[in-house]
Amino acid sequence: MPTTDSAPAGQQANAHPQGVNPLLDPRDLRLPRIADPCVLVMFGITGDLARHKLLPAIYDLASRGLLSPSFSLVGVGRRDWSDEELRDYVEQAARSGARTPWRPAIWDQLAAGMRFVEFSSFEDDDAYAALSRVVAELDATRGTAGNRAFYLSIPPGWFPAVTERIARSGLVDEAAGSWRRVVIEKPFGHDRASARELDDLVGRIVRPDDVFRVDHYLGKETVQNILALRFANTMLEPLWNQRYVDHVQITMAEDIGIGTRAGYYDTIGSARDVIQNHLLQLLALTAMEEPTSMDAAAVRAEKEKVLASVVLERDGVLDLDLTTARGRYDSGFQGGLPVRGYLEEEGVGADSRTETYAAIRLEIANRRWAGVPFYLRAGKRLSRRVTEVAVVFKRPPFLPFEAAATAGVGANTVVLRIQPDEGITMRLASKVPGTQMELRDVSMDFGYGASFNEESPEAYERLILDALLGDAPLFPHQREVDLSWRILDPVIEHWAASGAPQGYRPGSWGPASARELLARDGRIWRRS
Ligand code: BG6
Repeated sequence: MPTTDSAPAGQQANAHPQGVNPLLDPRDLRLPRIADPCVLVMFGITGDLARHKLLPAIYDLASRGLLSPSFSLVGVGRRDWSDEELRDYVEQAARSGARTPWRPAIWDQLAAGMRFVEFSSFEDDDAYAALSRVVAELDATRGTAGNRAFYLSIPPGWFPAVTERIARSGLVDEAAGSWRRVVIEKPFGHDRASARELDDLVGRIVRPDDVFRVDHYLGKETVQNILALRFANTMLEPLWNQRYVDHVQITMAEDIGIGTRAGYYDTIGSARDVIQNHLLQLLALTAMEEPTSMDAAAVRAEKEKVLASVVLERDGVLDLDLTTARGRYDSGFQGGLPVRGYLEEEGVGADSRTETYAAIRLEIANRRWAGVPFYLRAGKRLSRRVTEVAVVFKRPPFLPFEAAATAGVGANTVVLRIQPDEGITMRLASKVPGTQMELRDVSMDFGYGASFNEESPEAYERLILDALLGDAPLFPHQREVDLSWRILDPVIEHWAASGAPQGYRPGSWGPASARELLARDGRIWRRS
């Protein structure tokens, strides 16, 4: 260990206010992206997301040397914790969730900048005053230079109370040479109107460019790779259009139920939970035109164009009974164990009509994609956990083989395997070895694990770092959020007027209506 390990963290911070952390792993020294000294104020630090994802990611960033030695974390919550109790809690979260090894010197440095501020409620004005004092104390003692990020990992219902008081307490008042940012977690509203209201609220405390909306799918390496695959290669892009593509299937399947999240999930359902954000972002990245650069403005502009071109009509006719499906898992068995049905989950009302499975057929009304259906589906308690984008190509117009020889041949498909088993598969027809001409589909695979030695960072590591750096490309703009609700609002309204979702068996691929949705177009879902 370097001798600096034993120095108090505050001294190290002063010795290296902007520079490289002397404790960091030399492998990361080549990475120039080190966040400014700052205070991260986390609302909702006692919640599941913070414990499982955000706090381990913060430790991993520190351990990779990507946080300034001055970095400080203020937890805000309805507990009467001391700073020491917060440290214990963060330590537990980091030890069980971080992917990098536990290094006491890194931890000591990080822990020295942790403070807890007790809020009796988010309307507790005195607590905001105490928060201001703590942040000022950190600026003075740890060299955080007035830079502040407010991470709001709280239900959107609390946004008005919190943003109003943050503003009133002077916490976001501009100070020369320093920055103020707000990081917000989905759900970005409940529909288009409430998303706009939410945006107005946040817009009252910081400038639009200082709002970072987290859609953690955009932090995943495999999602970022969609643009690399499309625009850094020559082979695919000429085929990536309605002349060659038959249809696209975007799947986000989970094998778990809702667990203890009924309070959140039952008011939301599958479409709002993941289609409004993750799946429509995947669609946008898969279908957008080439941006002029990888700048946030350029990438967002192309995503917005494609989202604005999405239509729910099938061949010009709007009939959501034919182009959407939804379901709710019944009780049954999964992985050999009995599991509860959605209605029996703790916290779900007997009269709930929330869907745990949603499928939607969309089209994109532009020259590249006219007439190509995009099928989106997401669900809980499905057969297995898999997220993928499958681009299914048209069959060749003519096959100069005997019909029997090509009986085993399907459509060429490029599968972007988002998770797990991250990689890309191409399905192609090939001759079966032997004395006859017989063809069958084979796979060509690229796997991250086999091609790169480095483990991919967790999505939240990348996103927290980018927010602290003020780098916007991986955060959806409010206009994208707005356009996504434009697509989804009519579907959700239609469902609200259509009775309860259809049941499906745990461990299956969803309700019969989802199969029928594709069957109407003469297609089937992959894997079903
Ligand atoms: C979240 C949803 O956004 O994504 C959850 O709210 C879902 O319902 C989760 O389980 C899945 O994330 P991941 O990264 O495991 O695919």
